[in-house]
Parts: sequence; C-alpha cells; structure tokens
Amino acid sequence: MNDEADLTSRVLYEDGDHSFIWLGADARSGKGAVQTLQYLILDKGRGWLLDPGGVHLFARVVAAVSRHVPLDRIDGIFFSHQDPDVSSGIALWLGVTPARIYISGLWTRFLPHFGIVDPGRIQPIEEAGKGVRLGSGAELSFVPTHYMHSPGAFSLYDTRAKILFSGDVGGGFFPEGGETAFVDDFPAHLPVIQGFHERLIASNFVARRWCDLVSRLKPEMIAPQHGAIYRGASVQGFLSWLSALKCGTDLLDRFYGA
Ligand SMILES: [Fe+2]
Ligand SMILES: [Fe+2]
Repeated sequence: MNDEADLTSRVLYEDGDHSFIWLGADARSGKGAVQTLQYLILDKGRGWLLDPGGVHLFARVVAAVSRHVPLDRIDGIFFSHQDPDVSSGIALWLGVTPARIYISGLWTRFLPHFGIVDPGRIQPIEEAGKGVRLGSGAELSFVPTHYMHSPGAFSLYDTRAKILFSGDVGGGFFPEGGETAFVDDFPAHLPVIQGFHERLIASNFVARRWCDLVSRLKPEMIAPQHGAIYRGASVQGFLSWLSALKCGTDLLDRFYGA
C-alpha cells in the first residue's frame, strides 16, 4: 500500500445534520477479489448505505458502519446495479438492518438468487421516483447510468453534499500497493481506469449522455465503487475524458481479436 495513502474511513462532507462518509478500504480486498469502496450517508442520525458489497466484506463493512450509526437506523441501501461485488450481501444486510433496498427494477427478480429476500423490502428505483428526501430536507437523486456497464444502472447524487456516487463509472483497479484515496492528478490516474472503461462501458454514445447529465449537476466529488475518489479539477478532467472515450461497441473488433 502506498505510504502516502491513508485508506482509513474519511468524512467527505459534514454539516450539522448531514454527512457523507467513505468507509475505508480493506487491504486484503485486493487478494483475489476486486477492490471495492463503500459509502455511508448520515442524515439526522439515520443512515443510507451505497453498494455495501458482497459476503466476504460483510463483517468489515458492518464494523465500519457501526462506528458511525447503529445498524437499526439504516433506512436505505442503494445498489447501483446487480453485480455480486455490489449486492451479493443483500440477505445479510436485510437481516441486520430494517432498510429498504433501492435498485433498478430490471434486477429485482434476480436478487433472491443471492439468498432469502423479502420482496416487500425491495423498491424498484423507477417506481420510487427521481429520488428520496431525507429528514433534514437533503435529497438523494437517482441518476440514470444505463449501459455503464449494466443495462439497468443508476448513480446516486447527494444534492446537499454535492457528491455523486457513480457505481462502476470512474472505477478502476490499482496495482497492488499503489492505492490512493483520492484522484488529484487525473492524467496520472488514467492507467488505473482506461482499460476498465474501454471494456465495460457500452459505447461512447451512452458515456457522453451520462457525462452531459452529470455535468449539469456540478458535483464537487465523484465517488466510485472501485478505485479512488475524484475531487477538485479531477472531476472535470474525468468527465471530459469519458465523454470523448471510444469504448465498448466502438472497439468491438478489438474484443473479437480482429
Ligand atoms: Fe459492475
Ligand atoms: Fe463493481
């Protein structure tokens, strides 16, 4: 692990009623499994979890969350999409929290394959509306992120913290020991994210559509599920790069070996 990098839990935003917390990284998570980042939003003493992850991270994430809020005060769990690194811990989380699960309706019938799930606690995002309002008045907006990479994917924008949780978008994998918490030099971060986006994002058409939408939100940070958190000039650096990126079907010959 990079000596310069402090990968313990960080408060990314905080005011009297509302905070947005990165729950830190597990140094062991790089061993044979993709490295993932988890986040907690706290609002007037109630919590929301963003992509809390799979079974093998469950104990660490429970411990990290419990340092900030009792589990029985977690009201919502947001899944950006259906992948196992996002949502395979669903049965465990439903067991230890009273939370409702928010995910694209495309995936609700797939979730029981990760364990015993009460369908009454699953809220398809399309039926939940454009977002949810929390106790302080802060709003969490569901941002369409379809085909990036999942056909049914959402980002979540915390309008009070001005932080966009982007799921896999913006993600990448560090070489072991090279992890950093933040992206402060976007060009230097490109080797971490380039191949991931070229392979996983469906096409430049969908990437550009998302970048246009996100640019209008003017986020101060973009917090992905893998890699590191974009802040300062790296937010615009990333959006400019992604909106011009040829990826997915634009590069189809590459993936067929032509
Ligand atoms: Fe994914
Ligand atoms: Fe992922």
